[in-house]
Amino acid sequence: MNTYLADIAKDIQGLDPVASLQYFAQKYPGEITFSTSFGWEDQVITDLIFRNDIPIEVFTLETGRLFPETYYVWNRTLEIYKKKIHAYFPQAASLQAMVDQKGPNSFYESVENRKECCHIRKIEPLKRALSGKKIWVTGIRAEQSLNRHDMSNIEWDEGNQLLKFHPVFNWTLEEIKAYIKENNVVYNTLHDKGFPSIGCAPCTRAVREGEDFRAGRWWWEDQSKKECGLHATQQ
Ligand code: ADX
Ligand code: SF4
Repeated sequence: MNTYLADIAKDIQGLDPVASLQYFAQKYPGEITFSTSFGWEDQVITDLIFRNDIPIEVFTLETGRLFPETYYVWNRTLEIYKKKIHAYFPQAASLQAMVDQKGPNSFYESVENRKECCHIRKIEPLKRALSGKKIWVTGIRAEQSLNRHDMSNIEWDEGNQLLKFHPVFNWTLEEIKAYIKENNVVYNTLHDKGFPSIGCAPCTRAVREGEDFRAGRWWWEDQSKKECGLHATQQ
């Protein structure tokens, strides 16, 4: 696996995000997928994919608990680009069992409950979204956390048995914002209100000046346990 990864890393060395995405789309036709949470990194990647007609499927995990602002961006993105974004929903039976038993906000009560909710609303649907895929594109950036800083733009995901590629991995937030402005890309207005990282509404708050990018995610939990499982090894 290491030589395989090293060869790919060499192939994309020096390529810009569009050329890298085109390289992967050509190498893995029909087996490449991009996950969007409609955050600004993801909106940049969506713009790169759709504007350049790169044959990469785009999907989102519709947890049912997203912010109204996120649904607005999702809808505007469909209207602007006129391309498909697949929504993966939780399995109705497991969601119903959890909510019937524990109520709608069980995630505040314990880390175990929070992980159960993330599993039902995100992890299980993610498994379905990634099934049969060889490469998963994400909007992860090095700057987002110390752990992410140590990653690289291309990596092997042992849990999902596929490659992960982060096309804007080395971009700074300023570069992301500049791209959005220059290209008039629709973005989540919560970003202007102190939300650098946006997940489910009940589990995301604004951050204060000087706080970490991800400080507003599951803020009530002990730092060491803050891990949703989507990118388990990177948090
Ligand atoms: S998380 O693990 O804390 O939820 P984060 O919000 O930093 O992840 O987002 C990192 C990347 O994970 C995004 O760029 C996107 O590729 C993917 N992602 C996160 N949430 C979702 C979602 N609800 N649907 C699809 N992809 C998502
Ligand atoms: Fe549930 Fe919160 Fe996880 Fe969303 S982030 S799936 S609401 S625990």
